[in-house]
Amino acid sequence: MNFFIKTFGCQMNEYDSERIFYLLESIGYKESADINKANIIIFNTCAVREKAKNRLYGHIGNLKKLKSKNPDLLICIGGCTAQNLKEKLLKDFPYIDIVFGTHNISELPELIRKKQSLKNNICSIKEKGSDRFIYKSKRYLNFKAYVPIIIGCNNYCSYCIVPYVRGKEISVHPDKIIKHVKKLVLDGVLEITLLGQNVNSYGRDLTGNSKKSINFSNLLKNISGIRGLHRIRFITSHPKDFSDDIIFTIKENENIAKHIHLPIQSGSDRILKRMNRRYTTEQYLKIVRLIREELPNCSITTDIIVGFPGEDEEDFRQTLNLVKEVRFDRAFTFIYSNREGTKASNFYDNKTLKEKKVRFLKLLEIQNKISLEENKKLIGKKFEVLVEGFGIKGKDIFKGRLENNSIVNFKGSKKDIGKFKYIEILDVKTFYLKGKLCK
Ligand code: SAH
Ligand code: SF4
Ligand code: F3S
Repeated sequence: MNFFIKTFGCQMNEYDSERIFYLLESIGYKESADINKANIIIFNTCAVREKAKNRLYGHIGNLKKLKSKNPDLLICIGGCTAQNLKEKLLKDFPYIDIVFGTHNISELPELIRKKQSLKNNICSIKEKGSDRFIYKSKRYLNFKAYVPIIIGCNNYCSYCIVPYVRGKEISVHPDKIIKHVKKLVLDGVLEITLLGQNVNSYGRDLTGNSKKSINFSNLLKNISGIRGLHRIRFITSHPKDFSDDIIFTIKENENIAKHIHLPIQSGSDRILKRMNRRYTTEQYLKIVRLIREELPNCSITTDIIVGFPGEDEEDFRQTLNLVKEVRFDRAFTFIYSNREGTKASNFYDNKTLKEKKVRFLKLLEIQNKISLEENKKLIGKKFEVLVEGFGIKGKDIFKGRLENNSIVNFKGSKKDIGKFKYIEILDVKTFYLKGKLCK
């Protein structure tokens, strides 16, 4: 019996797919990369932008044919859109068998069993989360692992649906995290990525005697002391909770990657306020200046939303100025998407999509130029990279990741996968680098 799983969302969503993978294997299913050979199809969905939902609807629509060919096929929709739309998904697509949410992933085997002896389709959603089974998962790669440290989000940025579909922040106890990471290292993991919507608020919800010392930078210090762990990454940092000691922790511990993803969202204080981000551009720039001072080789990446309701020419100009001032290594840019139920969905929107697209392209042009210029500074230098897999399938081109999170393609061999290698950068593009293996 086979299952096919497709992941639509962020790294947390990818990790949830690894949990689903574990659960389905534990009840005797094997993964198939071919959707046509699957007895169970799982879509692990994302709700962050309307486009993600529309894409999903297209994909579910395509399953109708498969289901009519094979009535025993089980179609299961999980993740953030499932958590958001609930029974509506069953109404829109009556051939879906199971809808499950973000808080009850561990119940999936039970739901499958139930469905097999039942005619009706099932919608099972919980409104509250728990970290009880969080580390029961199956890694896609042997040498790399995601490690959620805080689930949920309390921030309620006015445009964002995540707090509604992921619930309140729950920090995993540090002892549990350390124990898990030690186990991963024994199991061959060289690099971990600590996950959270806002890793900087880690620990706030944990009580007990040791409360004082439970915060993100302490956790980071303790994890970096685990022997055999070569590289530690973390995402995402929220500027409002980013403390200076994180910068010093990175500086003092060689195995913490010098890369900070610090979403700014807008370069206008007026818009940041309306977004409920709770920091100013000056506070943001202060963090950036300290990073540049203490960690000269640290890459800084960001997220930016263009066309937030009420954003005028001057606000947008301020975003462009900030981008030019900071010179991000990379920015993930999005056109604002209205999410029903969020505060911003009631804001008056003064611009058309066409006008927003013009701004979006302008921002992209400026940022791409900066990314390329920053990449060019790497030419001729040597970096340690973790080889992750094929760069171009069928050829002997492989891809590895630098400490700064850039991808480099190089000529190598299969035996390099899962190892740290030194690569010299020969040429660069906007979004990736080209290099050669150092002897
Ligand atoms: N927790 C992370 C972000 C998670 S969502 C953080 O706070 O940084 C990833 C990115 O999607 C956000 O940083 C934001 O730039 C973008 N995003 C979220 N909601 C959006 C919306 N309604 N429209 C457009 N972009 C959005
Ligand atoms: Fe969304 Fe803001 Fe939470 Fe990030 S911090 S997930 S943008 S509400
Ligand atoms: Fe992630 Fe999308 Fe959910 S960004 S948390 S999968 S809404």
